[in-house]
Amino acid sequence: MKGLVLAGGSGTRLRPLTYTGAKQLVPVANRPVLFYVIDNLVHAGVTDIAVIISPETGGEIRRALGDGSAFGARLEYILQDRPAGLAHAVATARPFLEGSDFVMYLGDNLVGMKIQEAVEAFTADPSLAASVMLKEVPNPSSFGVAEVDAVGNVVGLVEKPREPKSNLALVGIYLFRPSIFDAIAQIKPSPRGELEITDAISKLIELGGTVKFTRLTSWWLDTGKKDDMLLANDTVLDDWLVSGVEGHVDGESKVSGRVRIGKGARIVRSVIRGPTIVGENVEIVDSKIGPFTAIGDGVRVIRSTVEHSVLMAESSITDIPRLEDSLLGKRVLVRPGPARHGALSLMVGDDCVVELSQP
Ligand code: DAU
Repeated sequence: MKGLVLAGGSGTRLRPLTYTGAKQLVPVANRPVLFYVIDNLVHAGVTDIAVIISPETGGEIRRALGDGSAFGARLEYILQDRPAGLAHAVATARPFLEGSDFVMYLGDNLVGMKIQEAVEAFTADPSLAASVMLKEVPNPSSFGVAEVDAVGNVVGLVEKPREPKSNLALVGIYLFRPSIFDAIAQIKPSPRGELEITDAISKLIELGGTVKFTRLTSWWLDTGKKDDMLLANDTVLDDWLVSGVEGHVDGESKVSGRVRIGKGARIVRSVIRGPTIVGENVEIVDSKIGPFTAIGDGVRVIRSTVEHSVLMAESSITDIPRLEDSLLGKRVLVRPGPARHGALSLMVGDDCVVELSQP
């Protein structure tokens, strides 16, 4: 069984963060979403993996994952020249996948469940043409939606339907056999101009293939928008964070609950409440951090309170009495301005959101 991770595309829903980086590398509890994807594949015994990359963000994806040895995997990179759809990505990877069954995993999807059982069940039943993972959602129109029959077969799939036939959304994890290539060869681009994997699976069914599904019983975060990101962060901190202090915490500071503090971090006269992760070389002075907060590498927080937030690498917060429910990109500075009749002084890039407390 091989793996195919889709880390191409152009991330538009998480702007502005994805102007300067790939959406699959947005950190959740200080680790890129993509790292959890590779971990899950390796845990299921899938170590021979190709990663689809785009010309825009391929370089940074390669730098982050390397040759895969840090994950116990062997990674190969395949350039998809344009984001022409999930089925187009599969077709692009044909030389790598040829002759093998494979798991396709969307690189921006984070699930709380191991995929090992689903992979084993698919391998054990050669009568299946494909298997998909489904989860009930309140907003099926935002996803690929499956229609299933009483005996557990998938009978139809539609991409982001206006009138969904069920509330079962396709989670971005799929199991295929080489027969998927014949199906892809017979589909046409959708109205949004993409070769849809949902259409390819529907074609497999039309050609007589049996497609089953696994119901995702855990949480699933398709890390799209700010609130999704904060929720992903809460969930991962809550479920997976392992405590450990590698940095220095001075005698006047207090650390309580599940907290991880990285190498070279300095915590001075501050309170850190878990679950919270503090990255490497962070400086926290006279501040209160957490709960449910991820502080990226090289961040500085001085005389401030930060709760339920994600601060990415090298940002700096100074003299801010309370920062809550916030998602800050890299190298962001938040500090009081010079006192000029209460005026705000901002330098904010495209698509940012600034919400100020009411006086
Ligand atoms: O998140 C689950 C949903 O993912 C499914 O319910 C949908 O059926 C499926 O089509 C997909 O929908 P999205 O609109 O969320 O797909 P998105 O364009 O965000 O792409 C998903 C991942 O695949 C992302 O990591 C980028 C990558 N990708 C995307 C395209 C279109 C590629 O590598 N190449 C591509 O051409």
